[in-house]
Amino acid sequence: MFVHQVDDQTKLAMVEMRDAEELFALVDSSRMYLREWLPWVDANVSIAETVAFVQAAQKQYSRGEGFQCCIRYRDKIVGIIGLHRVDRFHKQTEIGYWLAEEFQGRGIMTACCRALVDFVFQEYKLHRVEIRAAVGNTKSRAIPERLGFTHEGTLREAEWVNDHFVDGAVYAMLERDWAE
Ligand SMILES: CC(C)(COP(=O)(O)OP(=O)(O)OC[C@H]1O[C@@H](n2cnc3c(N)ncnc32)[C@H](O)[C@@H]1OP(=O)(O)O)[C@@H](O)C(=O)NCCC(=O)NCCS
Repeated sequence: MFVHQVDDQTKLAMVEMRDAEELFALVDSSRMYLREWLPWVDANVSIAETVAFVQAAQKQYSRGEGFQCCIRYRDKIVGIIGLHRVDRFHKQTEIGYWLAEEFQGRGIMTACCRALVDFVFQEYKLHRVEIRAAVGNTKSRAIPERLGFTHEGTLREAEWVNDHFVDGAVYAMLERDWAE
């Protein structure tokens, strides 16, 4: 199993079934805040959906299609970061993430993202990493911007969130630019 120490207070650990209860409680505690940008939140109404998420993540990993990690900050789960997909042929992937409301504003996600980008370039030997965020999601967009990703454009009405479409800003980092 993948465990990565990001700094002395933060680590990434692949999601496991024993995390389901803590993870569901975290989503439940941040529901109103998370639902603004994450389309799956309203459907995540019981621990059964979180168990299904963990099972899907385990299947994703066993197929070599990426992984989902719990972000543990001072040993508590505070969010998730993972790879939506891994395209081995074109050597690219996309990072997705969320953080519970009370843990925002400390640089946790930027540090985790930096560690994950390092990992996919060094261990998975990929060439390109994308981060997509709704155009209006300024906190999410700030992460790739802080890490020096290039804003490549806007996907029009690319995602259905709750009751409306949102435009998606696409950011990408190439391995050679990250190495610099
Ligand atoms: C997107 C999301 C993860 C961003 O969280 P965040 O706390 O802003 O991101 P970070 O953990 O990297 O913290 C950055 C903030 O901490 C501050 N900070 C403090 N110390 C820092 C450090 N060492 N390094 C970087 N930033 C630091 C930054 O200034 C910034 O605060 P600001 O927005 O007031 O300027 C979070 O808002 C979220 O989960 N939202 C809901 C779900 C979502 O939108 N997911 C993404 C879908 S694409």
